Amino acid sequence: MVVLGIESSCDETAAAVLADGRRVLSNVVASQDAIHAPYGGIVPELASRRHLEVIIPVVEKALADANMRLSDLDGVAVTQGPGLVGSLLVGCAVAKSIAYVHRLPLVAVNHLEGHIYATFLTEDPPEHPFLALVVSGGHTALYHARAPLEYTLVGQTRDDAAGEAFDKVAKLLGLGFPGGPVIERVAASGDPKAITFPLAQMSDGAPDFSFSGVKTSVSLYVKQHAPLGRPEIADVAASFQATVVKMLVRKTVKAALHHGIKRIVLTGGVAANGRLREALEAAAIDHGLHLHIPPRHLCTDNAAMIAAAGTARLAAGERAPLTLNAAPDLALAG
Ligand code: KG4
Ligand code: ZN
Repeated sequence: MVVLGIESSCDETAAAVLADGRRVLSNVVASQDAIHAPYGGIVPELASRRHLEVIIPVVEKALADANMRLSDLDGVAVTQGPGLVGSLLVGCAVAKSIAYVHRLPLVAVNHLEGHIYATFLTEDPPEHPFLALVVSGGHTALYHARAPLEYTLVGQTRDDAAGEAFDKVAKLLGLGFPGGPVIERVAASGDPKAITFPLAQMSDGAPDFSFSGVKTSVSLYVKQHAPLGRPEIADVAASFQATVVKMLVRKTVKAALHHGIKRIVLTGGVAANGRLREALEAAAIDHGLHLHIPPRHLCTDNAAMIAAAGTARLAAGERAPLTLNAAPDLALAG
């Protein structure tokens, strides 16, 4: 089965062609970083407009790279949500048009399930059940994937998403956008133990996350110690990154042990972070857990992951109607 995946939920316009749910024949991602960088964050209207301009060339390139035509496809998978409504509408409209004209089955994909399915594009796909930590710019959540296409929400952030915290702290430090990659780069020359930022503890013991406290502490530190030189900025970046990584690793391992789950998946844009990958790997080994992490380019937004989740849902007989609408608040599980 050859499936075209389309992803436009945030600021990446992406299309991919996937064969048999596993073989990535093409994976094209057009980044909008340069458009949003001057604003230090994503401007939703600019994102939608840019998707509209580039989505057809991106789909054409995905087909050309895969050496396929639209008539070779067996299905179309598109991100329905969650995400920015104007951005989602562009991908949905294009996917629906292709499905309509070529009489192809259409399937709607939850973006977060897409992130989880990136793991199925690796040499070592996870067996169910597993615990998935999805860490992105818009979401930070732990899901128990009990069986294929079945999820239970185990914990989630009570305020900012982890990626959002990286982006906001990068802005505070004057490091630019997007924050994750630049913080990771700058942190490499800093001391992760230089400053102690608070680790959020849930008073009710829930496996939830919170990143607003550490972000506020960084903000206070920057104000109290201004102007910061390059070495101090590197120390703040390294200490902040270490705090976020510690929180993510602790809660994930604790939840896996609590629920008796032996396999963990780490995915989403923040999963591209080297320190997080290493720290979770080390913690997994310590606790006898098997960890699955997609390669970096499949952790950040892409359409191969959407095609992968879409293929699984098409195979399960799911179809979306041509009246499909974007769902900006779409939940993966309650
Ligand atoms: O999954 P993603 O590409 O888009 C959303 O679904 O939100 O995640 C984007 C987020 C951004 O906040 C970005 O700063 C963060 O992932 N990110 C990183 C790294 N690369 C991207 N965070 C930490 N370290 C990185 N290397
Ligand atoms: Zn994402």
